[in-house]
Amino acid sequence: MQVTLLLCVGTLAAAPLTLKKAEPAAALSPAQKADYAKVIQPLFEAHCVSCHGPKKEKGKLRLDSLEATLKGGKNPTFTLGRPDSSMLLARVFLERGAGDVMPPKAERPLTEKQKEALYSFIEGQPIPADLAKAASADTQAALAAAKPTAPTDSPTRK
Ligand code: HEC
Repeated sequence: MQVTLLLCVGTLAAAPLTLKKAEPAAALSPAQKADYAKVIQPLFEAHCVSCHGPKKEKGKLRLDSLEATLKGGKNPTFTLGRPDSSMLLARVFLERGAGDVMPPKAERPLTEKQKEALYSFIEGQPIPADLAKAASADTQAALAAAKPTAPTDSPTRK
């Protein structure tokens, strides 16, 4: 453990710009911001914001805006380009039976496409169009299942 820590500190000193805890939203490319708005934010709203938003802030984490998502909670959520060290991704990709899985066991799980889209975003790559489409369709299905009568007061994201 100590060795890992030392290694991390070493890398941090060598690359201070890529390993900071929170990345300013300005560091994202326009394509990444568009992916976030179109695919990731609706996914978070459908599956996460009830516990990680204005009403509840579980783990001190809010996922209701890009800034809040990048800021993280008790722990950092992710650094773009480093999906394998992302705590958020790790918890989303846990087996459904695991105690720490997100969303929690009792909630509707994310689909493979939704998880892949999240991974692709955190990889720092543009989400491939067909994947973005499939993940968004799954998000819409989750929203529809949660609220059979679709709300008319929320603006539709294009
Ligand atoms: C039903 C409520 C609920 C939902 C829905 C939910 N979470 Fe959580 N989440 C929690 C609770 C409670 C904690 C704090 C305890 C813990 O860390 O397990 C938490 C903690 C976390 C943490 C760790 C925060 C930190 O900094 O330690 C992450 C990351 C996370 N959730 C991601 C998500 C994501 C992503 C989603 C949606 C895909 C989601 N959660 C949906 C209840 C929820």
